[in-house]
Amino acid sequence: MQDMLEIKDVTKAFKTRAGEVTAVDGVSMRARKGEVTVILGPSGSGKTTLLYLVGSLERPDAGEIVVFGEDICRPETDLVQYRRGRVGFVFQFFNLLSALTAMENVTLPMDLVGVPADEQRRRASELLERMGIEGRVQRMRTNKMSGGEKQRVAIARALANDPDLILADEPTGNLDSATGAVVVDILVELARRDGKCVVIVTHDEGILRAADWAYRMEDGKLRGIEV
Ligand SMILES: Nc1ncnc2c1ncn2[C@@H]1O[C@H](COP(=O)(O)OP(=O)(O)O)[C@@H](O)[C@H]1O
Ligand SMILES: [Mg+2]
Repeated sequence: MQDMLEIKDVTKAFKTRAGEVTAVDGVSMRARKGEVTVILGPSGSGKTTLLYLVGSLERPDAGEIVVFGEDICRPETDLVQYRRGRVGFVFQFFNLLSALTAMENVTLPMDLVGVPADEQRRRASELLERMGIEGRVQRMRTNKMSGGEKQRVAIARALANDPDLILADEPTGNLDSATGAVVVDILVELARRDGKCVVIVTHDEGILRAADWAYRMEDGKLRGIEV
């Protein structure tokens, strides 16, 4: 399968009062379309920073991040378009707008790229239904929902603009194990059936079962492991 994401020797350090922390230290990896890549590591190992670099929410100090042949670290890359249209994020704490309904959370990213209103609603409804969120629940505020429902709404939101790349940061971290398993199954299906490139970072060893490829991260360094 085709390489979707290629990271070459990427480093990111933060200056803190206690000194400099190298959160991501010379990391190289690749991830493919239609496959699930899992990065396992303990808290503080640099997983979130790595995912933020790939999502262009942080800039690397050195190295290259190539997504579908384009180096997203080059100044001419349209990062707004990239963040809104080519990459979808799924977070541990869902990061939904709790005062808005499920439907509104999913239409929002489409609104940002100028999708017509009726098309927004049609598409959001289809995505939510696919995630098992039916009509009545679609019109509920997300703060009334269970963790599993929130994460399924969040996945529908991540898919709003049909990105090639799905980045999930501890997607089961706030869910019980049965609900977490449902969420992992959905992410696997997005890779296998929809051909998305899915990258999951987690400390949860159980997610390895979903992996086509896996890496272990420790102190900012990454190495491939067998799955
Ligand atoms: N914005 C930041 N400023 C300072 N230090 C940070 C920042 N983000 C992360 N770090 C540090 O980088 C290291 C890796 O953090 P993180 O990427 O959040 O790891 P993980 O997601 O694996 O828990 C930690 O030591 C953390 O304290
Ligand atoms: Mg983290």
